[in-house]
Amino acid sequence: QQVLMVDQILSEFQLGRTALEEVMRRLQREMDRGLRLETHEEASVKMLPTYVCSTPEGSEVGDFLALDLGGTNFRVMLVKVGEDEETGWKLETKHQMYSIPEDAMTGTAEMLFDYIAECISDFLAKHQLKHKKLPLGFTFSFPVRHEDIDKGILLNWTKGFKASGAEGNNVVGLLRDAIKRRGDFEMDVVAMVNDTVATMISCYYENQNCEVGMIVGTGCNACYMEEMSMVELVEGDEGRMCVNTEWGAFGDNGELEEFRLEYDRKVDETSLNPGRQLFEKIISGKYMGELVRLVLLKLVNEDLLFHGKASEQLRTRGSFETRFVSQVESDSGDRKQIYNVLTMLGLMPSELDCDIVRLACERVSTRSAHMCGAGLAGIINRMRERRCQEALEITVGIDGSVYKLHPSFQEKFHAIVRELTPGSDITFIQSEEGSGRGAALISAVASKMAASR
Ligand code: BG6
Ligand code: GLC
Repeated sequence: QQVLMVDQILSEFQLGRTALEEVMRRLQREMDRGLRLETHEEASVKMLPTYVCSTPEGSEVGDFLALDLGGTNFRVMLVKVGEDEETGWKLETKHQMYSIPEDAMTGTAEMLFDYIAECISDFLAKHQLKHKKLPLGFTFSFPVRHEDIDKGILLNWTKGFKASGAEGNNVVGLLRDAIKRRGDFEMDVVAMVNDTVATMISCYYENQNCEVGMIVGTGCNACYMEEMSMVELVEGDEGRMCVNTEWGAFGDNGELEEFRLEYDRKVDETSLNPGRQLFEKIISGKYMGELVRLVLLKLVNEDLLFHGKASEQLRTRGSFETRFVSQVESDSGDRKQIYNVLTMLGLMPSELDCDIVRLACERVSTRSAHMCGAGLAGIINRMRERRCQEALEITVGIDGSVYKLHPSFQEKFHAIVRELTPGSDITFIQSEEGSGRGAALISAVASKMAASR
């Protein structure tokens, strides 16, 4: 009886094929509106041109500095781009991770960018590079309206960032100003890209069919190569340009209302950006653990879990981290891992409690994989139609902690994408060091283009 009632509450998370196809169609409609000049402003999915094009003019070789801001970690990397006889590329990297203090994320833009400049300075000092004026590629994982590859304004912060005075400003300018304020090193900022774009580029050099980049981590987003003639925000009709969809904001105009549950609404209300990034809030790692926590509280309140009693920790927002979802679902069947997670949260679970918690995690993460899969299927089906191809062979480069670390996300995600994209042959590649390598490669191309201008 108890299990049946639990199952009934959790069944809301299951989305059938019809629902997923509906999500996919609505996303495609919104993508279309984002690309068109007339409807771009009001579209929830912004479809931002990246100025990364399909016909690179070759590239420079040498040392590049790469920054990666917006995922779990802030990273500074030194990437050596060289010429390799076989692949045309040889890359070597040195990197260092820095954690961004909470007050830099939510203080002022000056504080944030000063901190970034401080980290670069530290990195350069460690590698005796302070005297060199290196070209720099900046992976900046937020919605940016580009005017060129090295110029673009931040539309709005997403995920946990909220530094004031950045929205509406040129991000490369903010970085250059901070470097100038420090005055102890010089940099030539040549390119700024989204993390999805850096991921796509880094995989492209392994597999030339890689025309889609995707992140399922703290946030969730995708980019892909669109026909230039469709990108109305940029002049010209030749070739293809990479478009950063910013699909995390899908749903912000009400397109997902009948799919959103009471837990989604609560997660949204207590977030830093209520009413925004509603698709992302259903899928990504920043919110997955919190969704599970709210579901568990609901089951407790219905007297179906932990004898109707939640611990102080479980009642605290953010206490059920997304990595616990992975931990619970990786349990081998003896419930040890689940037990460990729950006792850490001050609970004394029975075996049945452990099984119910596992089921709750599975339902939340499966919905995430399926929603995300519907999104990717929307992009791939669109590409196939636009290219008038009977069969499309395409490679997707992917990164992000949920994709890489959750025990069954990948499998469920791949399966649903393939189910929803008849006629396409899809290869998934996991990107390694995607942002560093991608940003460096793009910078190498941008430097070459600047030099030939
Ligand atoms: C990293 C990329 O590996 O994955 C970053 O280098 C990206 O650019 C990140 O933002 C996304 O994953 P997460 O889980 O760190 O948000
Ligand atoms: C958020 C950002 C987006 C980024 C994604 C993954 O959705 O808005 O730019 O690509 O997170 O990091």
